[in-house]
Amino acid sequence: MKKTSVYIETFGCQMNVADTERASTGLRRAGYELTGEAEEADVVLLNTCSIRARAEAKVYSRVGEVKHKGRRSGQLIGVMGCVAQLEGEAVFDHAPSVGLVAGTQATDRLPALIERARAGEKKVLDLGEREAGEIWEVSPVERHSPYVAFVPIIEGCNKFCSYCIVPFSRGRERSRPAAEVIDEVKRLKDAGFSEVHLLGQNVNSYRPRPPVGLENFDGATPFSKLLRAVAATGMERIKFTTSFPRDFHHDIVAAIDENPNLCNWVHLPAQSGNDRVLRQMRRGHKVADYLERIRTIKNARRRIALTSDMIVGFPGETAEEVMDTVSLVEQCQYDSLYIFKYSPRARTPAAAMSDTISEEEKTERFERVEEAQKRIQKTLYSSYLGEVVNVLVERRSTRSELDLMGHSTCHKIVNFRGSDALIGRTVDVRITEVKSNSLYGEAAQSLLKAFC
Ligand code: SAH
Ligand code: SF4
Ligand code: F3S
Repeated sequence: MKKTSVYIETFGCQMNVADTERASTGLRRAGYELTGEAEEADVVLLNTCSIRARAEAKVYSRVGEVKHKGRRSGQLIGVMGCVAQLEGEAVFDHAPSVGLVAGTQATDRLPALIERARAGEKKVLDLGEREAGEIWEVSPVERHSPYVAFVPIIEGCNKFCSYCIVPFSRGRERSRPAAEVIDEVKRLKDAGFSEVHLLGQNVNSYRPRPPVGLENFDGATPFSKLLRAVAATGMERIKFTTSFPRDFHHDIVAAIDENPNLCNWVHLPAQSGNDRVLRQMRRGHKVADYLERIRTIKNARRRIALTSDMIVGFPGETAEEVMDTVSLVEQCQYDSLYIFKYSPRARTPAAAMSDTISEEEKTERFERVEEAQKRIQKTLYSSYLGEVVNVLVERRSTRSELDLMGHSTCHKIVNFRGSDALIGRTVDVRITEVKSNSLYGEAAQSLLKAFC
């Protein structure tokens, strides 16, 4: 009998990518076939994001498109991920062609849920929690890359920043046992992966219970112990994201200093450069606390690349307060920066705040911060000219057939000329040209890993 085919489309952050990998593992194990073609699939699953209004709107327009183009009669359309968890039953009212809604913790139950829908049950809904004995481990063929693997270490978020929907869509923080994380990284290494990204909304809130597996490792916090334990597996490159400023312990930088395979990149979202706004955002840190963390990072033995997120147009933010964000950007000298226009999310405290900022004003503020970052980034990227960075080659460049594309240990995009044989390898590249968001260079295998 022909297998039922499933197509999954992923929106949002790396956690959703990791969930798609996990869902695919479970589905294939249950006898389903995974396909890359939405139109031909028996089941289309949209793994959705709700972080800003625009991300959410995309889901419904995509459902309409899938419905319109689908060639299969009786094609089942399902919504999973953050929108599913938040909207639940309402998804069916919004989009009557959807037959299945599976929340963020229902990933492992998808095979059974799909079966129910295909057996004729209307509006199959699961917003329940993850069950014990869950499939955390993803099969290598389902990974988004054969070289870089995402390894979730903590799910959910307890911080409740006043603008953010994630604590509602992902629930309370749940840490994975350390021994499980370490074993997974070991197996990834054996399977030929060169890089892992330890994932969590806040990796430094990692608190495994019981903390078995970390007894033999030093560290001031469970996360810095875990970093040392993962480094000891010998995995070639280890990155982690996202770090939360309030809980960013200086021991994380000490761990990076001690272990060359802990990569020289930290993503530390600041959100604003003004203390009043930060208080309103309920971030739990002041500008001075943030700058203290930055000093520790900048004083590391290797140059650690620093990236961040900022929100402009938070309710009540004044034109002067945005200039404090510009000033923070100038002080921190970020390697790159994601700037977001504040988007009100239902259920969050900030959505009830008055004193809203017009879209036009948000755009202006966005451009002010962006202009500062562009200027800084240009100078910072220029300092790489003539330097050598170590690049994990991921694929051919989409822009030029002759070029390869990969990321440096400091998480910059690097392109250089080379053959397919280098894909999947780590290569030293001497930088010869600087673009606004990437570096260009030439392979320099014999050169020492001098810079990045
Ligand atoms: N846990 C991470 C962030 C996860 S969400 C942290 O705390 O740093 C990724 C980014 O989306 C956030 O850093 C923030 O800049 C942005 N963001 C979250 N909610 C938003 C909202 N309502 N409007 C605009 N940007 C938002
Ligand atoms: Fe959202 Fe704040 Fe949690 Fe980050 S720390 S996911 S911004 S609530
Ligand atoms: Fe989006 Fe959910 Fe990630 S809201 S950013 S997919 S945690």
